[in-house]
Amino acid sequence: MRYGVGFQMSDRRIYLETMGCQMNVLDSELVRGQLRALGFVSVDDASDADLVVLNTCSVRQHAEDKVYSRLGEIGRLKQQRPGMVVGVIGCMAERDHEGLSGRSMPVDFLCGPGNLHEIPTLIEQVYASRGSNVPNASSRPTALSQDRSRSVPAAQRSLEEDGIESLDLSRSATGGNVLQAYVRVQRGCDKFCTFCVVPWTRGPERSRPPAHILKEVHRLADAGTREITLLGQTVNSYTYDEAGRLVTFAELLARVHEVPGIERIRFVTSYPGDFTDDIFEAMRDLPKVCEYLHLPAQSGSDAVLQRMRRQYTVSQYFDLLDRARAIVPGIALAGDVIVGFSGETEAEHEATLQLIERAAYKNLYIFKYSPRPGTAADRRLPDDVPDEVKRRRHAEVTHLQERISFKHHQQWLGRETEVLVEGPSKAAAKARRTEGSPDPALAWRPRDQLTGRTRTDESVVFRGPDTLIGQLARVKVTASSALTLQGELIEANGPRT
Ligand code: SAH
Ligand code: F3S
Repeated sequence: MRYGVGFQMSDRRIYLETMGCQMNVLDSELVRGQLRALGFVSVDDASDADLVVLNTCSVRQHAEDKVYSRLGEIGRLKQQRPGMVVGVIGCMAERDHEGLSGRSMPVDFLCGPGNLHEIPTLIEQVYASRGSNVPNASSRPTALSQDRSRSVPAAQRSLEEDGIESLDLSRSATGGNVLQAYVRVQRGCDKFCTFCVVPWTRGPERSRPPAHILKEVHRLADAGTREITLLGQTVNSYTYDEAGRLVTFAELLARVHEVPGIERIRFVTSYPGDFTDDIFEAMRDLPKVCEYLHLPAQSGSDAVLQRMRRQYTVSQYFDLLDRARAIVPGIALAGDVIVGFSGETEAEHEATLQLIERAAYKNLYIFKYSPRPGTAADRRLPDDVPDEVKRRRHAEVTHLQERISFKHHQQWLGRETEVLVEGPSKAAAKARRTEGSPDPALAWRPRDQLTGRTRTDESVVFRGPDTLIGQLARVKVTASSALTLQGELIEANGPRT
């Protein structure tokens, strides 16, 4: 690879802002690693940067509006610093290149999520052609819809070409979180839920070879990573054809489990339609695999699920939750729902409330339906639930889930559990930052407060020494609120619960 000929050493301050899902968080980390290898250093403020990169999300209109408003601010900064280079990467770069490369936009290059390894070349092109065009690396979503590869089963569409992961850069050197890391196992999605833009922006589902995934996990473990989260849009449908033999997701979990140094394994997001019991059995039998499952339902009404093309019914979804709870003791479940999808009646909304009540999620991500250009729902179904009704339904769901989450947290009172100690608690971090602060309101804040995460993804705040950071510890839960638990330290490096 040719490295940044257009850049002077003094031109290498990057500001990278990430919006959207865990996939984007991972992509940003990989991009940061790639640019760090070119000599870029990260800065916390766009106004100090030579290169500003926005990693964008298209999943809802609100996320896209935010990018346009950020670009307005960045455009004003760029007027004061004409040498500044601005890149937009991620799903919006794939979906909306016309809007983003318009004349009034401060954008110098665009790069879709499948082409991030091309960013250095794009930056060079910007320097070579300064102002005359907007270099663009994307996969052209319009072509994806007719992509013939979709007619081939996903297992035969394995991903030999690793894109940005193939650069083999050490992520731990990027200054990010070393303790916990995301590892992609799959790109894209084939489900085409009618509301969702992801299959259009991230392309067809392709699974990475187990050997590539394992190599990455080994490298992260050697660098100090203790917790791995395997990422895929429908992670449980992972399949890889290894010389004629299919490697399933359960088998992949077993292989990752073998990696020394890794203490915990998580995975997101699961698709209810494809979930097989061997994954629950792996969760039960492999001690490093945490008892936590993010399993979006989207709606509690069969008619709505059908309009969404979710390929399962409410009763199949409940059957799955029942099997999860029967096979994996202590499993915690998280969900997603969309309120106000096309044609959603009061009765269908009620059905979603009932689903939430019965599912007893530990936590729930709640979204108002936002039509996405090009999706089947946008083409064929009206966005006919008025915004005030969506807002009211959103509030009702939120209120119900708060009650359930609170109850869920209360069940923790008095229990002992294992946590992975992540660092100082928010209050402690703030107290440390304001050490010697004249503000008396901050003086009381405990500086020795740590935060840890349970296997089922709850945060527990407790007092303990910094030497515990990065270790497993046992704590007893002494108080609970809707969002966090408080506890006291029992012992460091406690055995697993
Ligand atoms: N499988 C993916 C889903 C990506 S989108 C994953 O890894 O999470 C994340 C969530 O956003 C979806 O589960 C859905 O609840 C919500 N969502 C997607 N498209 C939406 C839209 N058009 N309007 C509102 N919410 C949407
Ligand atoms: Fe989106 Fe449905 Fe895939 S929500 S990411 S199309 S499983």
